[in-house]
Amino acid sequence: MPATFEAVRSALAALADAAPEWIPATHTDIGGGTGAATWAVAEAWQEEPASTVVDWAEPALALGRELAEASGSPALRAAAWQRSRIGSALRIESTDLVTVSYVLKELTAADRAHLVTEAARAARAVVVVEPGTPDGYLRVIEASSSCSTRACASPPPARTAAPAPSSPAPTGATSRPG
Ligand SMILES: C[S@@+](CC[C@H](N)C(=O)[O-])C[C@H]1O[C@@H](n2cnc3c(N)ncnc32)[C@H](O)[C@@H]1O
Repeated sequence: MPATFEAVRSALAALADAAPEWIPATHTDIGGGTGAATWAVAEAWQEEPASTVVDWAEPALALGRELAEASGSPALRAAAWQRSRIGSALRIESTDLVTVSYVLKELTAADRAHLVTEAARAARAVVVVEPGTPDGYLRVIEASSSCSTRACASPPPARTAAPAPSSPAPTGATSRPG
């Protein structure tokens, strides 16, 4: 979780640089697991957006809820934890920001495509983070181009990091709030 947190924090910093005036009021963490991206979002904006963590694994949600409750952060303690499957039936409620961290690699190509399209439809900004491996990089490029051609108001500024030899750095893309 600490490594994921750092990777998402770095991607959120790129988003904040691209849109310094923008502050998300609501946030949905898709495939959020124990909520690492939600912790990063709570840290990134002092106003602390209202977050919903969506995942299929109940044990991850339960642990995430427990960690959030122990955090002392009002935003994390107020986060909603929702069990839902990412698939063709996934519908994301309208939200300011969607994070998808280390999730695309776990999905089928069809579910990946649906998730990215749905996230771009539902949110003003989408942040995708994947491992900095060649296939992770390709998934981010695929998500980024799909987002810019289908639903995002402006082309996403890709933020990539070159993989380190022993430990692949994360790679991510953000879409500017439209
Ligand atoms: C590698 S973990 C990443 C968790 C978190 N986003 C993070 O960055 O630490 C992938 C998460 O995706 C969830 N997941 C995978 N496939 C899913 C699906 N079809 N529906 C819902 N959640 C799914 C898993 O339960 C797991 O929590």
